[in-house]
Amino acid sequence: MDIQITWMKADHSEDILRIETLSFDSPWSQKQFFEAWQDPKMYTLVAKIDSQLVGYLIYSRCRDKLVIENLAVDRSFRRNLVGKKLVLSVIDNLGNRDCVELNVADSNLDAHLFLRSLGFKASEIKRAFYGNNQDAYLFSFRPAVLVGG
Ligand SMILES: CC(C)(COP(=O)(O)OP(=O)(O)OC[C@H]1O[C@@H](n2cnc3c(N)ncnc32)[C@H](O)[C@@H]1OP(=O)(O)O)[C@@H](O)C(=O)NCCC(=O)NCCS
Repeated sequence: MDIQITWMKADHSEDILRIETLSFDSPWSQKQFFEAWQDPKMYTLVAKIDSQLVGYLIYSRCRDKLVIENLAVDRSFRRNLVGKKLVLSVIDNLGNRDCVELNVADSNLDAHLFLRSLGFKASEIKRAFYGNNQDAYLFSFRPAVLVGG
């Protein structure tokens, strides 16, 4: 499948909210997406197949790391490498920063397996990170450092 990655636009909001609501127990609101979209520290990406919006990813840039704030793929298009292509476009922008990070609910096994397949490692447990008292794992991707020379 040909997956296109482009910038999020205002008229994507209906598709994004539909995917978000079907993907998370505590989905982001339209206001949260709008604030992220307007925030100059946030980068908002969508994935399309045949012009249909099938996934999105929001990340922020800090001096020493990139942080994935939200990521989801339409259920009907999962396991088609859409999520991988979105995350690789973040990794491509690492520059000389140390890592890409994100928090994932401890119960979200699909996301754990997905991230591990991309080389992320769980580096910390955050107790009661979510409002419903649920724990999160902090997952990090660090590019391999070449030693020698
Ligand atoms: C996690 C998520 C984004 C993955 O998106 P996706 O487009 O289905 O993932 P990809 O097709 O790019 O998967 C790449 C690889 O990750 C691994 N993987 C992905 N989902 C997996 C699953 N449910 N079980 C086991 N391995 C999985 C596989 O190795 C896969 O490669 P393969 O299909 O060739 O075996 C998607 O399941 C999702 O939207 N989940 C709900 C939202 C969510 O949990 N967000 C937090 C994301 S970190």
